[in-house]
Amino acid sequence: MYQLSHTGKYPKTALNLRVRQITYQGIGINAYEFVREDGSELPEFTAGAHVDLYFRDGRVRQYSLCNDPDERQRYLIAVLREDNGRGGSIAIHERVHTQRLVAVGYPRNNFPLAEGAPHQILLAGGIGITPLKAMVHRLERLGADYTLHYCAKSSAHAAFQEELAPLAAKGRVVMHFDGGNPAKGLDIAALLRRYEPGWQLYYCGPPGFMEACARACTHWPADAVHFEYFVGAQALPAGEVPDIGSDALTLGFQIKIASTGAVLTVPNDKSIAEVLGEQGIEVPMSCESGLCGTCKVRYLAGDVEHRDYVLSPEARTQFLTTCVSRSKGATLVLDL
Ligand code: FES
Repeated sequence: MYQLSHTGKYPKTALNLRVRQITYQGIGINAYEFVREDGSELPEFTAGAHVDLYFRDGRVRQYSLCNDPDERQRYLIAVLREDNGRGGSIAIHERVHTQRLVAVGYPRNNFPLAEGAPHQILLAGGIGITPLKAMVHRLERLGADYTLHYCAKSSAHAAFQEELAPLAAKGRVVMHFDGGNPAKGLDIAALLRRYEPGWQLYYCGPPGFMEACARACTHWPADAVHFEYFVGAQALPAGEVPDIGSDALTLGFQIKIASTGAVLTVPNDKSIAEVLGEQGIEVPMSCESGLCGTCKVRYLAGDVEHRDYVLSPEARTQFLTTCVSRSKGATLVLDL
């Protein structure tokens, strides 16, 4: 579900999304809802897809989208806090709050649903419910024949139970609580003993769960079996919690020229003045360090991170220095 990267770069194609809502889903599990600031549609995704979440130091974590793919205005992920993990889940739990902007990659799908099968069996272990929940939404819309078996330590550790309850009532979702002892939970081998031509199997969960599923379906055709592994946990040094990316700065931000309506992107490695200069809009410059005020420009809207040493608090309400100022939000409107 997630993996580590040290590229240190944020792709230009990433989305800068606002955290609209965080909901408690179970012990150690939060669900995070991301939306565009203007409420417009997000790029489409299919059941089983994941998105990358970018951290300031270049790390990337992947999380499955768990809402209905037909919902175009939001992405929903669920994150289990893993205190012995690699730090990403702790960072998200501790540092991501509602209203925050987060750098989110475009959805990709390495775990697609084979639609049209006569019967689908979905096996979720713990937080492995996330991609399978999106599949359930899709299968419901298709009117497909399926069963989701959701294994968790207890009811208190199982996410999305309210949402899944109507499907449980219909027998589409079956909960299995083992109290922490898998031997007391779902008998996966017995469940998968039967195979009928065309049936499809999907499973996702922690390592022991994955091994049990793999052992139990060796007699299934390879093309009928679909699974997604968590990347193995690798502890960070004590106290190291990466900073989940980002306010808008991690992806750059936009400036709008009030007189023309032109919108320009200011990437992380350029100043506002440089971007203006590239468009033939020359701003007088001197120190280029936020010391002299020569490059100041009036702004009409936006949340400025000033970074200069020259403007008074009063001046900062109207002006920014184009050599060092950045934006805390998505866009600054300049009086040019
Ligand atoms: S050039 Fe001096 S503050 Fe910008």
